[in-house]
Amino acid sequence: MRAHEAGALHGDIGNRGPAWLRSPEDVNALVPQLWPRTVVRTDEGVLEVGGVSVTDLAAEHGTPAYFLDEDDLRARCRDFKEAFADADVYYAGKSFLCKAVVRIVDEEGLFLDVCSGGELAVALAAGFPAERLGFHGNNKSVSELRRALDAGVGRIILDSFHEIDRLTELAREAGKRPAVLIRVTVGVEAHTHEFIATAHEDQKFGFSLAGGAAFEAATRVLDDGVLDLRGLHSHIGSQIFDTSGFEVAARRVLGLQAQIRDARGVELAELDLGGGFGIAYTTQDDPSPASDLAKRINKIVDAECQAESLQRPKLSIEPGRAVVGPAVFTLYEVGTVKNVDGIRTYVSVDGGMSDNIRTALYDASYSATLAGRASTEPPILARVVGKHCESGDIVVKDEFLPADVQPGDLVAVPGTGAYCRSMASNYNHVPRPPVVAVRDGASRVIVRRETEDDLLALDVG
Ligand SMILES: Cc1ncc(COP(=O)(O)O)c(C=O)c1O
Repeated sequence: MRAHEAGALHGDIGNRGPAWLRSPEDVNALVPQLWPRTVVRTDEGVLEVGGVSVTDLAAEHGTPAYFLDEDDLRARCRDFKEAFADADVYYAGKSFLCKAVVRIVDEEGLFLDVCSGGELAVALAAGFPAERLGFHGNNKSVSELRRALDAGVGRIILDSFHEIDRLTELAREAGKRPAVLIRVTVGVEAHTHEFIATAHEDQKFGFSLAGGAAFEAATRVLDDGVLDLRGLHSHIGSQIFDTSGFEVAARRVLGLQAQIRDARGVELAELDLGGGFGIAYTTQDDPSPASDLAKRINKIVDAECQAESLQRPKLSIEPGRAVVGPAVFTLYEVGTVKNVDGIRTYVSVDGGMSDNIRTALYDASYSATLAGRASTEPPILARVVGKHCESGDIVVKDEFLPADVQPGDLVAVPGTGAYCRSMASNYNHVPRPPVVAVRDGASRVIVRRETEDDLLALDVG
């Protein structure tokens, strides 16, 4: 049930790749938990998603491109909504946001968490009901907060004393009483990459529980009486498999809830335990289904409320990666193949770190498969790399691909729905790929391909 983000990039041992990576019996086989649910390999050996072949999709939309299995995304929204039936499920827009996804999230009855003025703009432009929005961020500007107030955003998650002062003043001016949560740093070391762990003391988010800042923030908001304090929030990190971190977080936040009750006679009605649920990127990952996560987290919350004699607060969660991550794969075309004797084969594709920064940034592990055809050749250890002028421009560190992989081949990388397009860049002036939704035998562009003209349009010098 565990995954370790830190791959064996620097420690791999020659032509065998990391210990967990097994040479597959059948190099064409698809590992079910890695792919969106409508993806199949046809008898002709071509991958299909939503009833459309990747060769047709590549012909129509080009490569590189992100392909979103719309039925898969909707099913994951439903899985979380049904599993956490008594909770408000916020889709974390930071994982991937565009108007089409906002509408799907709305239609599936989820809430939406945004963390910048830009994400708020996308949500409102897609007509998402503001009362079902949560607004996050460790440094929300006055204008962002004013826009959130004007729009009537449902929950603003406070992250600093400066923000309390800023929002209190804006609310007084506007004669409004926005509902807020206080983000608590619970001091949990989440078992994940340091850059996506967010609840240990030495990081930028939230009010420290151990240091007393969280209690002080709550009493300050209650004293002012301008902001409507609904509850507490905690987000311990991302790509987490081990729910013990959520257990500690729930215990500590509910402990603070009891402390506030005892000190102020106020029993806060809400508890938001954030997101962070891990997904499968490789065969070493074994994520828990939403139903299991819900059972465990509800059990934890019930036990802690009993221990503290607290009314059970209304629970919220904020999954991003686990909702959109597995619903998307990236399709690339192979440009060059280079064998480094005795070590591995480098397969260069027409994208790279500009469309998927996670391998370079977090040493993330990914998988890949030949998508436009099947092969009878034996597997070889390959590294799928990008076209950028950067040796760290790696998409898939270690994967077995057929020995006859060649220029012109299509290669698909699953699990790229989260933190790929949303973190994409124009490094080396490479335009960002489109996002194409596929369903019932049809495809539609939901984010169009960026062009060099788009980049030049910004270049006004
Ligand atoms: C406050 C908050 N909520 C939710 C999320 C979503 O996390 P994940 O995509 O891992 O579910 C994040 C991610 O960083 C976050 O910072």
